[in-house]
Amino acid sequence: MNKIIKCNNLSYSYFNGKQETPILNNLNLSVKQGESIAILGQSGCGKSTLLNLLGGIDKPTQGEVLINGTNLGLLNENDTTLLRGKYLGFVYQFHHLLSDFSALDNVAMPERIQGKNQQFSQTNARKLLSKIGLEHHLNHLPSELSGGERQRVAIARALITNPSCILADEPTGNLDTKNANEVLNLMLTLNRVQNCALIVVTHDEKIAAKMDRALVLNHGVLTPLT
Ligand SMILES: Nc1ncnc2c1ncn2[C@@H]1O[C@H](COP(=O)(O)OP(=O)(O)OP(=O)(O)O)[C@@H](O)[C@H]1O
Ligand SMILES: [Mg+2]
Repeated sequence: MNKIIKCNNLSYSYFNGKQETPILNNLNLSVKQGESIAILGQSGCGKSTLLNLLGGIDKPTQGEVLINGTNLGLLNENDTTLLRGKYLGFVYQFHHLLSDFSALDNVAMPERIQGKNQQFSQTNARKLLSKIGLEHHLNHLPSELSGGERQRVAIARALITNPSCILADEPTGNLDTKNANEVLNLMLTLNRVQNCALIVVTHDEKIAAKMDRALVLNHGVLTPLT
């Protein structure tokens, strides 16, 4: 069976003129369907860079990323965007919701972008928001929601397309303990119920302990947390 995400000898450097700053160095990672993985590591070690490469948002300097068996390096930008939309969902530290759109429209947006009609995508968005306890906040703008509620909306937005894997970059970094737990438990429930793989970047070892595997990014490679 194909791994949902696989990267082989992945290297990435930032270039400032001729000055090269290596960030990832021959990194390998395999993610199975339904697996949950925490990625830890010091600030600046390259965790967000890695997620951007896995999602095809940035291109590796060397090596390859395969999403469900397809090598992103062989796709043009348009096909990369389509593949990302089909298999992956992103959740960021700061929710990145569109401020002028309601919770319902934010969650419906990925399907609208995929060309689904408004009624269809809003019905799906409404179901998903109800499932996560936000049925009374459908028409609220992001500025009219609490931090935890915004992050739950962001998770719903990542899930509406039924991704095979969620890439979450410090999704609870901005929340108090109670909201952080709710958001984390929501992601873990979806992981178990929908068999959606989960890659969570976190600084919190308690969160890492709830995942199937915890890996540390250090000197550009991933090693198991000991
Ligand atoms: N556009 C850029 N140009 C040059 N260097 C960059 C750029 N973006 C990030 N970097 C550097 O790359 C390194 C890795 O950044 P990255 O954002 O991936 O770290 P991180 O592990 O996510 O850190 P944090 O835990 O603070 O979010 C950092 O040293 C950062 O300064
Ligand atoms: Mg980061």
